[in-house]
Amino acid sequence: MPVETVEVPVAHPYPVVVGAGLDLGGVVSDTLQPGLCAIFTDSTVGPLYAARVREALERGGWRVAGILEIPSGESSKSMEAYADAIGRLARLGLTRDGTLFALGGGVVGDLGGFVAGTYMRGVDLVMLPTSLLAMVDSAVGGKVGIDLPEGKNLVGAFVRPRLVAADLDWLGTLPDREVSNGLAETIKMGFLSGGDYFEDLDLIEAARDGDLDALQRLVLHSVRFKARIVAEDELEGGQRAILNYGHTIGHALEAAANYNLAHGTAVAAGMVAAASLSREHFGTDLTAVHRDLIEAAGLPPRVSGVAPERALQAMGRDKKRSATDGAARHRFVLLRDVGDPIRDVPVSEEEARRAIGEILE
Ligand code: NAD
Ligand code: GLY
Repeated sequence: MPVETVEVPVAHPYPVVVGAGLDLGGVVSDTLQPGLCAIFTDSTVGPLYAARVREALERGGWRVAGILEIPSGESSKSMEAYADAIGRLARLGLTRDGTLFALGGGVVGDLGGFVAGTYMRGVDLVMLPTSLLAMVDSAVGGKVGIDLPEGKNLVGAFVRPRLVAADLDWLGTLPDREVSNGLAETIKMGFLSGGDYFEDLDLIEAARDGDLDALQRLVLHSVRFKARIVAEDELEGGQRAILNYGHTIGHALEAAANYNLAHGTAVAAGMVAAASLSREHFGTDLTAVHRDLIEAAGLPPRVSGVAPERALQAMGRDKKRSATDGAARHRFVLLRDVGDPIRDVPVSEEEARRAIGEILE
């Protein structure tokens, strides 16, 4: 399988390298001069891959100040974990000209990216995504941040990585349910993009079986699509908001479940609700195709253990709302058709309550 590189054409463009068995030292040296660095990872991924990444970097001339591990899981995207990580980096002696390698899933990327963007007012960031979700979505585009009990990703920034390198071999240890969670964002991007990408969603089963060609194809579709959207609207003044398809309700479910619900699982259910709202607003019925794809990905179309009123309350704090929206309106990304997303669709409290009701057990 050839190694493929997609450039994200923003003001300071950065490459996204996707392949199996990457020569990581070589890939990194193609973009960055070796220097002092730290590896930021979590307690699951660290024991699996951090030593190998360290060796590859050291062979390439890097000095690794240390490996900084956070407990794996969404609860690490917190103020406490952030403060702790910054303190540990300072004690490791990472300097202003240093580089942080974020080796892990979306949690490591989001927290590590926020740490890299703020430690000493910013050090270089390299994303080494190890989960499918991080490869298809979170490692690309520069959004980083942490959660508050009041809502998901309420603290954050845009921090451009210098490089994203995704070794598909890392997916070999990813638990099945996390493959499914990554496929939720893949399905999201396929619906938004339409065309060949949507057609290729029939590779989901092969991807679940670990077929590297299928995985590479889906990751590349996502990276290319996201790179195009991010190039148009990096700071989400407008069109980038379409990438939040399924997230208005998805994020609210996560917050209402005290972050004990995986992001991908919440987004999958959020997309089913958004499809139902899309049918009401635009008359196109994509609900069955949503359910079929979500089922093919091994995800439930409904979630349990979430109180509807708590989810509605969390939706009221959604970042995509604006001050002029008033108390009773939400704004959704909906689909007029496959490949035809419409953003900022006003949705009443009553419609939102009904849509949430449909996806809660
Ligand atoms: P995660 O980082 O918690 O990873 C899921 C689990 O898989 C964790 O237990 C992790 O340790 C484990 N894992 C990761 N790679 C592994 C591997 N190769 N082998 C074995 N285990 C592995 O969660 P995620 O699903 O990767 O990411 C979800 C997060 O991403 C959420 O916080 C979400 O808000 C965020 N996100 C951010 C963006 C963005 O643009 N910044 C986009 C989408 C999602
Ligand atoms: N995952 C949404 C975005 O990157 O904009």
